[in-house]
Amino acid sequence: MHARVPVVTTAALLGGTVLMFPGRHAELGSPGTVPVIVSHRGASGYAPENTLAAADKAAELGFDWVETDVQRTRDGELVVLHDDTLERTTDVERVHPGRAPWKVEDFTAAEVALLDAGSWFGPSYAGARVPALRQFVDRVSRNHQKLLLEIKNPELHPGIERQTLKLLSNEGWLDPAHVDGGLIIQSFSADSVRTVHDLHPGVKTALLGTPSFGDLAECARFADQINPAYASLSVGYIAAVRALRGPHGRPLEIFTWTVDDADDARRAAGYGVDGIITNTPDVIRRALPQRLPRG
Ligand code: G3P
Ligand code: CA
Repeated sequence: MHARVPVVTTAALLGGTVLMFPGRHAELGSPGTVPVIVSHRGASGYAPENTLAAADKAAELGFDWVETDVQRTRDGELVVLHDDTLERTTDVERVHPGRAPWKVEDFTAAEVALLDAGSWFGPSYAGARVPALRQFVDRVSRNHQKLLLEIKNPELHPGIERQTLKLLSNEGWLDPAHVDGGLIIQSFSADSVRTVHDLHPGVKTALLGTPSFGDLAECARFADQINPAYASLSVGYIAAVRALRGPHGRPLEIFTWTVDDADDARRAAGYGVDGIITNTPDVIRRALPQRLPRG
């Protein structure tokens, strides 16, 4: 157990009182243990992605880690949506005709709330909505789940990092219980991940993608995880990542995505990844040896 010595950071000086507890996160990775399984956009193989139903489906299947994506509407509401436009996963073309290209930042929260985000997936999900982030976080809380939250397209939503952290704080997600092992914030944007770390250094962060070997040491200054696509994994890359310590003093972790195939899951586990992000968490659980899970 690490001593929890609070350190006042430069972010605290800039943005209010922020305390940082070096090394306080629950450690996920150690060789020979089973990777954490993360339900991608909820259990999105079985329920419409990024809906409350997808979070519930993951809970029903017995999975506590849920990944989701946050973006912002025209009037500043944080909503849970993967694409930068609404037409693939909703009936926006029918409800709001003539509004192409249906970018989420061109619609108000009230307009988004009218959309059916479930029928495209199957008739039994008709009427599912695009959740506000607050609703999604509350549902994850109610389900006693953990959250891997991706800040999606941050370049389209300036200031989304601070706004997201404020919402999480208001909903109780920046308390020690969540920060110690129930919350990770990730992005493909290194600038966005760095901003999250600077604003709230206690929060665990992840950089999506495969930074070059030469950039990894810099990434380790603000990211606790490097989360690469499964296809880009290699033994050498994983070793290079693991050799570094992140901002909380622990070896960098690796959650890989999106793995829905049993053989791929076994291969990823063999590489020693800490987490597998999947649309079909039950398939991955069956593929892996039944030992005590991490986290
Ligand atoms: O969590 C990994 C994964 O979500 C990144 O890709 O495009 O599904 O958001 P994407
Ligand atoms: Ca995502």
